[in-house]
Amino acid sequence: MYFELVEERGAEELVLCSDSNSGLRALVAIHSTALGPALGGCRLQPYETEFDAVDDVLRLAEGMTHKAALAGLDLGGGKAVIMGDPSAGRSERLWRAFGRFVDSLGGRYITAEDVGTTRADMDLIRRETEWVVGTSPSTGGGGDPSPVTALGVHAAMRAAATYKWGRDRLDGLHVGVLGVGKVGGALARILAADGCRITIGDVDPDACRRLAAAVPCSILDPAGLLTLECDVLAPCALGGVFDDDAVEALDAGIVCGSANNQLVHEDVADIMAKKGVLYAPDFVVNSGGLIHVAAEVFGHGRDWSAERVAAIGETTLRIFELADAGSVSTAVAARELAEDRIRQISGLNTIRTPQR
Ligand SMILES: NC(=O)c1ccc[n+]([C@@H]2O[C@H](COP(=O)([O-])OP(=O)(O)OC[C@H]3O[C@@H](n4cnc5c(N)ncnc54)[C@H](O)[C@@H]3O)[C@@H](O)[C@H]2O)c1
Repeated sequence: MYFELVEERGAEELVLCSDSNSGLRALVAIHSTALGPALGGCRLQPYETEFDAVDDVLRLAEGMTHKAALAGLDLGGGKAVIMGDPSAGRSERLWRAFGRFVDSLGGRYITAEDVGTTRADMDLIRRETEWVVGTSPSTGGGGDPSPVTALGVHAAMRAAATYKWGRDRLDGLHVGVLGVGKVGGALARILAADGCRITIGDVDPDACRRLAAAVPCSILDPAGLLTLECDVLAPCALGGVFDDDAVEALDAGIVCGSANNQLVHEDVADIMAKKGVLYAPDFVVNSGGLIHVAAEVFGHGRDWSAERVAAIGETTLRIFELADAGSVSTAVAARELAEDRIRQISGLNTIRTPQR
């Protein structure tokens, strides 16, 4: 059954690791190394079944392949999941065991922080392997990528406003931000400086209160944000926000936010398009964080990241144009553009060089 899942996703490798002493049960999916080493975060979360964990890690790894390709990076896509409860069972041994597991893959997979994991966890992993990014600056890492992710979302939002309304300035627009954690909070601050009218919502009322103390905004419950009449809705919480019913209830002109896997399935983007909602695909919009950690992998400075984060706007515009020209949804246009780059660049392998 697992071979079929790997083949359906077009992944290269699925690796399991178990360490009974620490209780580590981890999976790494290497979806593609066609463009470079497979980079993607490590999630620590409970799964009802092993099947759910395998399905999730393969799906997330595929998303990373597309994200890296569209960000123009020499990186492939991978992901790790550790099956467990993030509020219990964390130990130095767990992270160091996982670090050794990652090290055994010899650099084919590079890990990073993700849902349920922290920078401190990455620092422990770093003690066992060099194949980890997003560690503390004191260990040579680049620190939290979230502010850079927010800058990328902002660039994509301006591109979407240009495409839809012929204006790249966002002042005066009403933006709903769903989820005001690290990315959503940073985004709201940028939008406030732009002169947007902001409505926020989060399952954590304290997160809303903290932000509202710093940024002029209204607060709504999360469900209310999904039906809010606004110009732009920025989902910055968890994935799986839009199924067919949720799209029916949408009252926004543009959807552009950082949350991964916002659409329950790709066809949801068609329903959005029919409704006149311009969807900026999540894996394009939220690639700023990946660009930030890629700079760490390749030893590039801030200018290198800043140029690529600004280019997220240009890529987003190109995807809108391709979608229109090909009469496909923006989600399909983005995926096809990513697959095209992977095909083009992996085709270079036919040219032999002294090194390769
Ligand atoms: N941090 C990054 O650099 C980065 C990069 C790419 C993608 N992303 C994605 O962006 C999203 C946000 O990331 P983050 O780092 O800000 O996470 P975070 O944990 O700091 O913030 C998420 C916020 O969403 C809230 N939330 C959770 N479930 C919710 C729900 N059902 N409704 C409303 N609010 C809810 C949480 O309370 C929290 O305040 C995630 O989907 C993440 O995968 C983040």
